[in-house]
Amino acid sequence: EKGGYEHFMLKEIFEQPRSIMDSMRGRLEMNAGHLNMGGFRAYEQKFVNAQRIIVVACGTSWHAGLVAEYLLEDLARIPVEVEYASEFRYRNPVITERDIVIAISQSGETADTLAAIELAKSKGATIFGICNVVGSSIARATDAGAYTHAGPEIGVASTKAFTAQVTVLTLLAMLMGQKRGTLTDTKLRELMVELDTIPAKVEKALLLDDEIRAIAATFCDVPNFLYLGRGYNFPVALEGALKLKEISYIHAEGYPAAEMKHGPIALIDENMPVVVIATRDSSYEKVVSNIQEVKARKGRIIAVVTEGDDVIRDMAEFVIEVPYTSEALVPLVSVIPLQLLSYHIAVMRGCNVDQPRNLAKSVTVE
Ligand code: F6R
Repeated sequence: EKGGYEHFMLKEIFEQPRSIMDSMRGRLEMNAGHLNMGGFRAYEQKFVNAQRIIVVACGTSWHAGLVAEYLLEDLARIPVEVEYASEFRYRNPVITERDIVIAISQSGETADTLAAIELAKSKGATIFGICNVVGSSIARATDAGAYTHAGPEIGVASTKAFTAQVTVLTLLAMLMGQKRGTLTDTKLRELMVELDTIPAKVEKALLLDDEIRAIAATFCDVPNFLYLGRGYNFPVALEGALKLKEISYIHAEGYPAAEMKHGPIALIDENMPVVVIATRDSSYEKVVSNIQEVKARKGRIIAVVTEGDDVIRDMAEFVIEVPYTSEALVPLVSVIPLQLLSYHIAVMRGCNVDQPRNLAKSVTVE
């Protein structure tokens, strides 16, 4: 059942070209040249007239929600708030009938997310669900939604569900941008063409597996890790850190790279590995400066860069080159090496990667 892989987690990491494609199937219609999403169609006017989107989720799904904040603001020009379901539900939040709540959950059973939905519903908001499990409690509690078609995720650490969520959220942001008139036909078409290439680019990123295993061997005994990224790669930094801590039990923190100088930079010395996601995008130059700041304090830099980058090569101890893609789609590619890095480190430390201590696949208690 593990299809020849040693663990479900590795199998699921390698399934991503397929699960991303499955999550786009019937939605990204390249031949017809349009986008299609059943759950969106019925609520199209709500989405067009919405004044705000509130995303509620937990854990990795919350990170997918953070990516959605960048996507929806960028493409659909709508204000977005991304909330931990556990905080939102107890905060007496301001919710109106013109708000759309997007609830993201792999299992569809997370107690806090479900409670956040019920609260938002009672205030008249429209609830759109993004779930992986068909017929789950959250899927049933929402007004409309779109399933991620990632297939069953067995490994407790979420991998293919995350990229499937980001895929569906990307399609949703593109559709909203089109219907709200904030995305030109040209730009929409460009994004569609690029999105269509993502499974192949993820496939290519997976070829880095051996290289990443070698990097993992260098760092498997360290007590701490820092992950830095900006823009679309900030949520990816958070997700990379979460993956590492939950399966390898190494303490890791993800930060927006520019926040480093407001505190975490104090942690950096010759023993601190710093993973920096530094792909070619609008924040590239700024991230390069952040790398220099880390280097000046002798931090050990592992950089995820765009293929062909020869600037960072001279600054980092290790570079991991991923295929180029449009800025808005970068998380789908840049997260892959971080999943593999945490997997290999955890295996080398003898951890039970599929069932890490203290964690459950679905968190049905608050
Ligand atoms: C991380 C992880 C958890 C879940 C979180 C939400 O790898 O698995 O952080 O993402 O418990 O779960 P769902 O998405 O099922 O609501």
